[in-house]
Amino acid sequence: MNNLFEINDWKIIETSFSPEKQKQAESIFSIGNGSFGQRANFEESYSGESLQGSYVGGVYYPDKTRVGWWKNGYPEYFAKVLNSCNWIGIDIEVDGEKVDLHHAKITSFYRELDMRNGTLLRKVRLTLRNGKELEIESLRFCSMKRNEIAAISYSVRPLNFSGNVRFSPFLDANIYNDDSNYDEFFWEEESQKAGNKKAYVCAITKKTGFHVASSMRISFWEENQLVDIRPNYMTKPLYAENSFEHFLEKGKKYTLKKYVSICSTLNHSDFSLITHGINQVKEAYLTGFEELLNEHKSAWHEIWENADIQISGDTAAQQGIRFNIFQLYQTYTGSNEKLNIGPKGFTGEKYGGATYWDTEAYCIPFYLKTADSKVARQLLIYRFNQLDKAIENASKLGFKNGAALYPMVTMNGEECHNEWEITFEEIHRNGAIIYAIYNYVRHTGDTEYIREYGRPVINAVARFWAQRFNWSAAKKAFVMLGVTGPNEYENNVNNNWYTNYIARWCIEYALEIESSWSEKEGALLSKEEVETWSHLVKNVYLPQLEGTNIFLQQDGFMDKELLNASDIPSEERPINQHWSWDRILRSVFIKQADVLQGLYFFEDQFDLEDIKDNFDFYEPKTVHESSLSPCVHAIIAAKIGDLNKAYEMYLRTSRLDLDDYNHEADEGLHITSMAGTWVSVVEGFAGVRINENNITLEPKIPSSWESYSFKIRFKNQTVAITINQNGYHVSNLGDQPINLICNGNQHVLEASQTSESLQLI
Ligand code: BGC
Repeated sequence: MNNLFEINDWKIIETSFSPEKQKQAESIFSIGNGSFGQRANFEESYSGESLQGSYVGGVYYPDKTRVGWWKNGYPEYFAKVLNSCNWIGIDIEVDGEKVDLHHAKITSFYRELDMRNGTLLRKVRLTLRNGKELEIESLRFCSMKRNEIAAISYSVRPLNFSGNVRFSPFLDANIYNDDSNYDEFFWEEESQKAGNKKAYVCAITKKTGFHVASSMRISFWEENQLVDIRPNYMTKPLYAENSFEHFLEKGKKYTLKKYVSICSTLNHSDFSLITHGINQVKEAYLTGFEELLNEHKSAWHEIWENADIQISGDTAAQQGIRFNIFQLYQTYTGSNEKLNIGPKGFTGEKYGGATYWDTEAYCIPFYLKTADSKVARQLLIYRFNQLDKAIENASKLGFKNGAALYPMVTMNGEECHNEWEITFEEIHRNGAIIYAIYNYVRHTGDTEYIREYGRPVINAVARFWAQRFNWSAAKKAFVMLGVTGPNEYENNVNNNWYTNYIARWCIEYALEIESSWSEKEGALLSKEEVETWSHLVKNVYLPQLEGTNIFLQQDGFMDKELLNASDIPSEERPINQHWSWDRILRSVFIKQADVLQGLYFFEDQFDLEDIKDNFDFYEPKTVHESSLSPCVHAIIAAKIGDLNKAYEMYLRTSRLDLDDYNHEADEGLHITSMAGTWVSVVEGFAGVRINENNITLEPKIPSSWESYSFKIRFKNQTVAITINQNGYHVSNLGDQPINLICNGNQHVLEASQTSESLQLI
C-alpha cells in the first residue's frame, strides 16, 4: 500500500510538492461535471513530467488500428478519447522569467480537493531563479449547475518585491494525445479570436468532425477591487490569449478570474456553437465567481444528500468511499443521453473514454440507488438508441433476423476495439445490457420502460443468443463455443458457464416479457421463435464438476494445474506484468469474477451453500487484476458470512487509486469500478437487495467501524439506513409505505416512519 495523500473525511490533501508524484496527483485531483473534465494540471507553465488532460464528453477520434494480421470482421478503428483545448492556462512572468514549478524553489505547497464542494485549491510559495518570491493561490471548479461552464480564481501575491508582473490567460488547442497509435495530431483549426478580456478557440477533430468551442472572459482584481486592465490580445492557429502587465505592490493579493465555457457539436449545431459558447461565458462572467461557486456547491450538496455513505470510526474508509462517489458524479450525472461512463472517466486517456459493459454491470446499480431513476434510464436509452448499430454489428458477423450484438467498446454504437478475443468473443456484455433493464424495472417499478424501449432491445439480444448457441449431438444440449468470459485470462473457451447462464436467462426473460405484453401491445416475437426458444432454454448445457455443486468456468477447466494465487511468488504479481500471455492463458488464474459474477447477478436462483462452495473454490484462484473484481467478491463474501474476506476485498476496491495499489493512477482513475465499491458497502456489508415488492436487508458491520449510514432510492422514494455495532434502523423518508424484509422478517414501514432498533444477525 502506498498512501499518497493525507487521510481526511471530505478532502484529499497534499502538503508538499513531489514532482515524481505529479502525474498521480493530476489524476487524483481531477475535477469534472459529467460533461467535461480536467486533470489537476497547473494553470501556469510546468516543464516537469505531466499529462496535460482536458476531456470533453463524447468527443473522440477513430484512431487507425494496430494489428499484426487483419481478419475479416475487425472493427475499422479504435476510438480514442481526445485530449482537447487547454482552458486552464494562465502564464505568469516576472522580469522575463516564466513561473514554472519545475524550476522555481518551492517553499510551501498545498493542494486540496474538496469533495463536498467540488473544488480544487492550490497554494504555493516559491522563489524564482531571479530571486523574486511569490505566493500563488488558485481555486477552480467545473460547474455542476451549468454543465458547459468552469471558473478559476488565480491570485498572485509578491512577497519580497513590488514590480511588474505579466499575466497571460490563454486557450490552447495545440494538444497532442499521449495515447495515439501513430503519433498523429488529432485537431484541425476552425477559428479563433481574441478581444478585450475575452477570446475563443474553436477546433475540429479530424475524421469525426466534432467542433469544440472553448471561450473565456477575464477580470482582474487588486484585493477586492476590480481593476480596469487593457490586455493585448493575440491569436495563432488553435490558440488565443490576452496578456497584460500590472504593477503589483509587495504583500498585496492580485486575482485573475477566468470564466470558461466548453461546448461541442455533440449538443449544438456547428452554426450556433461559437455564439452559444460566447453567450454562455458572458452569462457566467456577469453572474460572477462567488455566485457561480455557490450554485456549484449547492448542486454538489444535493448529490451528497442522497449518495453519501457516512462511516464513523474509520477515516481512511470514509475518505475512500467519498472519493469513489465524487469521481462517479464528476463523470456522469445523467443530464445527457448521448453520454456514458468511460472506465477512466475524464481523468486519463486509456480505455478511450468509451462505453464498456462496466456501465450496465457496475455503474447502473450505483445510480439506481443514489439518484433519481431518470439517471439510470438515460443510460438504458443510450443503448436503446444504438440498437440499429448493434444489429448491424451482429449482421457483419453473420447473424440474421434482427439479432443484436452490442459492442464491447463503443463511442457511437459501433464496435471500436480490435482484439478479436474481445470484440468477437467477449459477448457476455450483451447479457449485462438486458440484466440492467431488468434491474432498472425492479428498482423503479417503471414497467412502461419495457413497453416503450425495453422490448425491442431484449428481443434483439435474445435473437443473437438463440443463434449463437448450437446443438451438440455429443452433449445432447445447446452449447456455446469460442467465447471469452469476464475472465480475460483465457480466450476462445467453450461453454463459459457465466455466458451460457446469462444467455439462457436473457432468452427466458424475453419469453416472459413477450407473454406479459403481447396480448396488450401485440406480439413482437414470431410463434416459431417462441417455440424454438422455449425448447432451447430447457436444454442449455452448463458445465458442472461431477458429483459436486461447483459450476465450471468452462469446458476443460479441471485439466488445468489447480494452483492457488497464493502459490504465485509475490515478485511475479501482477502476473500480467510478469508472465507471458501464453503462460497466463494456460494457467488456472482468474483475472476477475466470472462464475462468481453470475452467482452475484442471479443469487436468488441458488442456495447459499452453492454460492459458498463456489466462492471457496474460485476466490483462491482469482488474482483480481481487473479493478472490477474485488467488489463482486466483497459482496459475495459478506453474503456467505465471511466478513474478514469481505473487508479485505472492500479495502482493495475502495482505496485502489488513492493508495495506487496497481501503480497506474498516473494514467487515470478506475472510475467504473468505483461504482462497485459503493455497491459492496450497500449490497455487501448492509446486505441490501431490491425486489419488485420489497427491500431485503441483512446488515453486518466491519469491526473497525463504529457505524455507517446511507440512503437508497426505491420506487422513487428514499430510505435511510443506519447500522452500528449493536443494531440498525431504517427510516422511510417517502410518502408511501415500504415493505422490508429484515433478517428474514417482514415489516411494513409507513411513510415517514423509522423502525425500532433491529438486531444484527
Ligand atoms: C476488464 C473488463 C473491463 C475493462 C474496462 C478490463 O480489464 O477485464 O471487464 O470491461 O477492463 O474496465
